[in-house]
Amino acid sequence: MKRKKRPAVGRDFMRKTQFKFLEPTDQSRQLPPAPPFIEPRGSCLDLPDPQTAEMRSIDVTEAIAGRTSKRDYLIETDLSSADLSYLLWATQGIREVDGHDVFKTVPSAGARHPLETFLLIKRVTDIALGLYRYIGPTHQIETLREDPDLASALAQTTLQPDLIDQCAVAFVWTAVAHRMTWRYGDRGYRYIHLDAGHVGQNLYTAGQAIGCGVCTTAAFQDDDLNRLLGLDGNEHFAVYIGTVGK
Ligand SMILES: Cc1cc2nc3c(=O)[nH]c(=O)nc-3n(C[C@H](O)[C@H](O)[C@H](O)COP(=O)(O)O)c2cc1C
Repeated sequence: MKRKKRPAVGRDFMRKTQFKFLEPTDQSRQLPPAPPFIEPRGSCLDLPDPQTAEMRSIDVTEAIAGRTSKRDYLIETDLSSADLSYLLWATQGIREVDGHDVFKTVPSAGARHPLETFLLIKRVTDIALGLYRYIGPTHQIETLREDPDLASALAQTTLQPDLIDQCAVAFVWTAVAHRMTWRYGDRGYRYIHLDAGHVGQNLYTAGQAIGCGVCTTAAFQDDDLNRLLGLDGNEHFAVYIGTVGK
């Protein structure tokens, strides 16, 4: 039997984003970069110091060897706000800002850091069920919507609603494309997804340090999820989800 041809879009994307085919980028044309952060417009909640999370004693080798995807969460058990703070620090915490270059706890191609973190918070002590966004520079979360129907609405945008139904928190990582494409043009779309992989891995590893299970997923209906988050789906779009629970 003849092997099926590889999907044309994927093959074209890989070919056309080789350096030799790239058009001049906005950076090479001396156009201004996208701001590295989105200013909060709503009210913001302070998070506790990440170091106040209750840690298990686990070394790096043990954490790497023991990592697995956990999909069954204790639906009566909350995360503490210190747990949430620690996971946000581990996945998008800021180490240093130097002009337009930002350095975080995860690597990013060219220190462009295109990712934002939206949070569906369901069971975190002292934080109401709702949709929030992480504000890295002040280590706060911005309240976007407090709506009891939000959790099931977000679950329905995914192909595995159980994961969202059971988790205590869902991290939804989104990308502001121009932060990356300003320097790398269309090749930047490759890097956005590579960056997201590092963030997901840090969520898995950090989860182990505080006794939380994690499962990531990219199985969602893009248009539905983007609409729910209020994103245009072109300049700013959802990339990856990480569910967390005890
Ligand atoms: C990009 C990506 C997408 C994934 N999507 C899903 C998913 O939709 N549903 C799910 O249950 N697990 C998902 N996972 C978890 C994988 O199924 C899991 O990593 C794999 O089965 C290996 O198991 P392990 O993580 O326990 O080693 C995903 C993982 C990655 C990295």
